[in-house]
Amino acid sequence: MGLSDDLLRLKDEAEAAFAGAVATGAAAVEAVRIALMGRSGRLKDLEEGFAAAPGPDKRTLGPILNQVKTALKEALAAAQAKVTAKENDAPIDVTLPEQGRHIGTIHPISQVAAEVEQVFTSMGYEVIDGPHIEQDEFNFGRLNIPADHPARDAQDTFWLSNGDLLRTHTSAVQSRTYKLVGDGKLTPPFRRVVVGKVFRYEAVDATHDNTFTQVEGFVVDKEITVAHLIGTIRTMLTAVLKRDDVEVRLRPSFFPFVEPGFEVDVRLTSVESTNRFSRWVELLGCGMIHPKVLSAGGIDPTQWQGFAFGLGMERLTMIRHAIADIRVFHGGDLRSLHQF
Ligand code: DAH
Repeated sequence: MGLSDDLLRLKDEAEAAFAGAVATGAAAVEAVRIALMGRSGRLKDLEEGFAAAPGPDKRTLGPILNQVKTALKEALAAAQAKVTAKENDAPIDVTLPEQGRHIGTIHPISQVAAEVEQVFTSMGYEVIDGPHIEQDEFNFGRLNIPADHPARDAQDTFWLSNGDLLRTHTSAVQSRTYKLVGDGKLTPPFRRVVVGKVFRYEAVDATHDNTFTQVEGFVVDKEITVAHLIGTIRTMLTAVLKRDDVEVRLRPSFFPFVEPGFEVDVRLTSVESTNRFSRWVELLGCGMIHPKVLSAGGIDPTQWQGFAFGLGMERLTMIRHAIADIRVFHGGDLRSLHQF
């Protein structure tokens, strides 16, 4: 009978073909499977022949067909198992070059931020956070910058369509904190520090970016003076700049939320005169918290005083590493960032 011979021949051929394909690998085994057992493979043809055979023939052919199908499945499984085993104990080529490990580095701003937080924690400050999307009230109003005040012009603002804004300075976290006192959720004395992103609608150049990082520190307590403020700033700069060539100078200045207000400039005495930081550069703003700002939060300014300061982390990090261009920080060029 033709069909039964064909079936038995397929079985023998399949066993030989699978055994042969093992030497070549998984793809060869799969090719044999498709040719013999696939949707239009040899087995399929023979099955169609079986379906067309007359009833009495089917009775003899049926068991042969089943036997052949089982044999094919077994031959396939055996071949696949052998291929896997062979792949698993493939010898390791110890002469291959190493792939090279890419170990990341911590962003220079994050490194300095961690150090700033550590210095302030050691002085008893609490490290806190505030939202990037801020309300006019906290960013300006409660900081003694009313809607028509020209001080708003100094901070070009990204406004949202609902009247909120992207905070232009971390001082917004001061007004949030003082309101907690009015709401009965916090009682002075307290010392707090925040490091976070701020946003200004600015053209980007070597010293300006539209997104940068500020540190804001503030203390509310009794009998706090400018001497405490200066001592705190000196402690921070010594710890963070890690340089022994830093000269510091304090100048009177104006910020609506402090009275008196100062600007602190620094210069590096041991860098070349071509380095920007060999001349005085403004580093931070600070002062004694304005009584109006304390009262706006529900703090009695006849009982409590304090100081506050705010500075740009980028500027601080640039001085520490004598980096000339602020665009390094958000530029995404890993060759620059990996150096720190
Ligand atoms: N918020 C000010 C700015 O971004 C910086 C500043 C000045 C913060 C004086 C202060 C301060 O806390 O007392 O320009």
